[in-house]
Amino acid sequence: MNNLLDQITALAKRRGFIYPTSEIYGGLTSSYDYGPLGVELLNNIKRLWWKEFITKRDDMVGLDSQIMLHPQTWVASGHVTSFADPLVEDKVTNKRYRADHLIEAWLQQHQDIKDVVIENMSIDEMAEFLQTHAVKSPDGNDITRPKSFNLLFETHLGVVAGEKSTVYLRGETAQGIFSNFKNVLDSTRVKLPFGIGQIGKSFRNEITSGQFVFRTLEFEQGEIEYFFDPETTDWQKLFKSWQDAMWHFVTSTLGINIENLRWRKHTDKERSHYSKDTYDLEYHFPFGWKELWGIAYRTDYDLKQHIQYSGVDLQYRDPVSGRTFVPHVIEPAVGINRLFLMALVDSFVEKEKRTVLQLKPQLAPKLVAVFPLVANKEELVAKAHSVYKLLKAHDLAVAWDERGNIGKRYLSQDEAGTPWCVTIDYDTLKDDTVTVRDLDTTKQDRIATEELIEYFKKA
Ligand code: GAP
Repeated sequence: MNNLLDQITALAKRRGFIYPTSEIYGGLTSSYDYGPLGVELLNNIKRLWWKEFITKRDDMVGLDSQIMLHPQTWVASGHVTSFADPLVEDKVTNKRYRADHLIEAWLQQHQDIKDVVIENMSIDEMAEFLQTHAVKSPDGNDITRPKSFNLLFETHLGVVAGEKSTVYLRGETAQGIFSNFKNVLDSTRVKLPFGIGQIGKSFRNEITSGQFVFRTLEFEQGEIEYFFDPETTDWQKLFKSWQDAMWHFVTSTLGINIENLRWRKHTDKERSHYSKDTYDLEYHFPFGWKELWGIAYRTDYDLKQHIQYSGVDLQYRDPVSGRTFVPHVIEPAVGINRLFLMALVDSFVEKEKRTVLQLKPQLAPKLVAVFPLVANKEELVAKAHSVYKLLKAHDLAVAWDERGNIGKRYLSQDEAGTPWCVTIDYDTLKDDTVTVRDLDTTKQDRIATEELIEYFKKA
């Protein structure tokens, strides 16, 4: 088992970041709920993403499309036929695994074999590899030959299940953007190049292998489709500018250590059928380098498919030249939950018997915790309450704690990633100053209560 991941999973549950879904019924595979602190961190990530990629830019607009779209959408996009993973089954336990994950685990134990690039393997090549090396399931049993397993979740509209009523839970938010392309053009004054972004739930019937919230059945994506004219815009420059924007968000806005990040170009065999070039921004998770955020040059593939399947003209008419054409698209697509997991992993530190989440203040579920020095002195508690209310009135995320001693409260806020703790003591009653303790440095400053708002807002 992975020690760091275990520690983070335990902390996440203990402190109300993440709980296993339906735990009272024994849990639901690869599904997690976000608790009181977790939902704040998740919302902070989404808010920062939205601000940086939609609100702050002049060339972006937002969208919120449905989870269930017309089923033809997924026929047109190719998901019904080719959105699949290679599945094998343990012949004894009937547990299912991804063939590529079993090969990856096998290769980790056979480091002398170096020339295998799993991403390049077809399903037949995986079958051959598994057979040649007699790869077993994690329980040590024989496995079946891999077969293609579609990831789309199906459900049915109305009361009678039947072919005509089948709809899919979206496997990516992107298709809601493509199918609204004309609506956005007709209802706003956007001109190429411009992008449409949205954050929303996506669903995939994943066969997963215990990597916490890295790969789940239900997850949130933040996707951007950036449309442009390939005759007037150099796609490579545009692609690079989006890579820079992704890098800026992860390193500057979220404050992630650059040593744990790298770019990986997809090989020709691995790249999706619609893409001319794809890179993954990878993060060094406790279980290895894994995709955090993908960027693909999807060309005009999706709009053309939707033109063909819907019969609707989705071309763009250039207002100056009058030329009509199908725009091309560059797509940066990220999983919000992967950003979340990365933030937990990257900020998790154990030092001097303290477990600390060194989150940037913009990410922290609570910005400040307020304590009365002791809980049984009425004047201290009343003054602490007034400071607590003052901070809340200025829209700061504030926690209250009066349990145990100050040392224990600090330890508790360290684990929650709260950047500052404010203690109201006997001096406060005399000179209206408080002790502000910093999570990173553990240094304590004496600050006048009237300066607190500015102190925290500046951070
Ligand atoms: N529209 C393109 C698209 O969906 P993708 O690489 O399949 O591309 C984009 O997904 C991002 O969504 C990934 O980089 C990853 O961060 C996230 N993601 C994909 N599947 C996921 C899952 N099962 N659980 C959590 N996040 C997932």
